[in-house]
Amino acid sequence: MSVKKIIAVVGATGAQGGGLVRAILNDPDGGFSARAITRDVNSDKARALAQSGAEVVAADIDNEASLAAALKGAHGAYFVTFFWEHFSPQKEKAHIRNMAAAAKATGLKHVIWSTLEDSRQWIPLSDTRMPTLMGEYKVPHFDAKGESNEVFTGLGVPTTFLYTSFYWDNLIYFGMGPKKDPDGKLAFTLPMGDRKLPGMAAEDIGRCAYGIFRKGSEYIGKSVGIAGEHLTGKQMADALSVALGQTVYHNAVSPEMFRSFGFPGAEDLGNMFQFNHDFEEIFCAARNVDVSRTLNPSLQTFAAWLAENKTRIPLE
Ligand SMILES: NC(=O)c1ccc[n+]([C@@H]2O[C@H](COP(=O)([O-])OP(=O)(O)OC[C@H]3O[C@@H](n4cnc5c(N)ncnc54)[C@H](OP(=O)(O)O)[C@@H]3O)[C@@H](O)[C@H]2O)c1
Repeated sequence: MSVKKIIAVVGATGAQGGGLVRAILNDPDGGFSARAITRDVNSDKARALAQSGAEVVAADIDNEASLAAALKGAHGAYFVTFFWEHFSPQKEKAHIRNMAAAAKATGLKHVIWSTLEDSRQWIPLSDTRMPTLMGEYKVPHFDAKGESNEVFTGLGVPTTFLYTSFYWDNLIYFGMGPKKDPDGKLAFTLPMGDRKLPGMAAEDIGRCAYGIFRKGSEYIGKSVGIAGEHLTGKQMADALSVALGQTVYHNAVSPEMFRSFGFPGAEDLGNMFQFNHDFEEIFCAARNVDVSRTLNPSLQTFAAWLAENKTRIPLE
């Protein structure tokens, strides 16, 4: 009997990592086993993962030594950071350095790093079309990730750079679902004009990552972008109308308006949508749906995702 290769998964109780753990567990003959990394092995989510057959180990990406211990004996790892828990690019960069260093120290054979573009490569800080945030970023939660890709390269960690897309689950958990306007009509607010936004079911990110691990060394040293579909705000609103059985219209506010909404992260997201809008072609081209489907044959469309999840979208 061949020994299974262990994949250690950061964020295993969350969206991206959870999808990967479930993909590994759902394929018992695939040659891999899942090691779920969590800060609390006794949480309900951690216990559920253990019940489903994952090895559950404790580590905190704040602490490199704890992470190195959790990676010991693993073949590969999935690394993701948690910007929206702390809103700090500095902290995110420290977490990335800890993960890369721990991977190097333990001699992992393959890391998938869930990254995003450094928008400043296209929109330098001197470009006034959008405000500079926190003194040195345009899209902080993108830039800190993209800037840090070189940490993996610099340390010689065998890495696949995975460029993810907007989660459609943001309509459930992130306040991005349709909301009633003053006339009682449902408005889907997306500051993208008539441009396309690559999106996907969060669960499919981990499934695509599993496809990458299954391909062996093919994607090591490479970048791969994934999406379930590239859709305009109008196309998303139309799909929502069909799924919900009531008219939803696309409220195409400007990025300036979105930035002014005032909720935590509104400016970062306003800049992100403007970056996605202004560089639509590059941003979409970097996230190939066919490649994503090759990695993950069960890749969902927005309509398929809505069919499963429409009742979970709060309609305020
Ligand atoms: N929302 C989007 O549309 C979107 C799109 C692309 C990329 N992203 C990026 O996705 C990232 C978040 O990934 P996600 O959505 O999978 O996260 P998530 O669902 O919020 O998962 C958070 C998990 O991370 C773990 N965690 C938090 N802090 C930790 C720490 N210090 N050490 C170890 N584990 C820690 C927690 O596990 P325990 O409590 O069990 O420890 C928690 O279950 C963000 O950086 C965001 O920028 C988001």
